[in-house]
Amino acid sequence: MRLDLATWKEVEHYLEHNKGIILPTGSTEQHGPVGLIGTDRICAQAIADAAGEQAGAYVCTALGYTPAPFNMSFPGTLSLNPETFAQVIAELLEGLAHHGFEKIYILNGHGANLEPIRSVLPTIQGAEVLLKSWWDFKEVNAIRSELYGDWEGMHATPSEVAITQALHRVVEDPSLEEPKKLSPEFIREHAGDKHGPPDEHRADFPDGRVGSHSSLARPEHGKRLLDAASKAVAEDFNAFVTASCV
Ligand code: NI
Repeated sequence: MRLDLATWKEVEHYLEHNKGIILPTGSTEQHGPVGLIGTDRICAQAIADAAGEQAGAYVCTALGYTPAPFNMSFPGTLSLNPETFAQVIAELLEGLAHHGFEKIYILNGHGANLEPIRSVLPTIQGAEVLLKSWWDFKEVNAIRSELYGDWEGMHATPSEVAITQALHRVVEDPSLEEPKKLSPEFIREHAGDKHGPPDEHRADFPDGRVGSHSSLARPEHGKRLLDAASKAVAEDFNAFVTASCV
C-alpha cells in the first residue's frame, strides 16, 4: 500500500492499529552501458511495494536523490552531498515519527546512503528505525551467487539490472565485454561506494561498471530476485513491527 496513494483519513485509521511503515532509498546515477539511471530507486521501490502488499503496510515513495558524487562524470547522474542527504532523511524520519509511525523500516538500494543514514539515526526521537539493504538477505544472496558468482561485482550488478529488466526494459549492447575483475582488497576497501573523485572514477571504470557483468542479467532473474527480496523484507518488517520497543 502506497502512502502517496492513500488519503489522510486512511492513514489516520491505519495508525490506530499499525505503527509501521517502509521508506525506500535509492539513487539517480549511471549504472553502466545497459543499466538504467534510476536502477537503485526502481529496485528499492519495487521490493518495498511488494513487501508492503504482503505485510499490509504503508510504503513511502522512494527517496531517489542521494549521494553519488563519484559518478558525476557520467551524464544523467544527480548527487546530493552526504550532509544534505542526511538532513533530508532526518527530517523525513522526524515527520513520520511526528505522525505516530513508531517503527520505520528503511529499505535501501544504494551503498553510499548507508553512512549518512546511520549518522542521523541516534538523533531520531519517537520512532525506532531499522535500516536494511535489499541484498542483505541470505535468500537473495543465494540467488545472486547462483546466477552470477563473482560477476555480480560492485556496481551495475547483473542482479539490480535484472530487476529493472523485469519491471521496465532490456537494453542490449552486444559489443559489451567482460568488465575488469576486482581484487578482494579493492572490494574490501570500496564497500559502501567509497570511490574517488568523479574524473578518476570514470578513468578507472570507463563504462561505469565496477566489476559487474551487467549483460548476464535476464528479466526472469529479476522476477526471482524481486520475489525473494520482497518475501524476505515482508518477514523482516513484520518481525520488526511486532517486536516490543527496547
Ligand atoms: Ni545500484
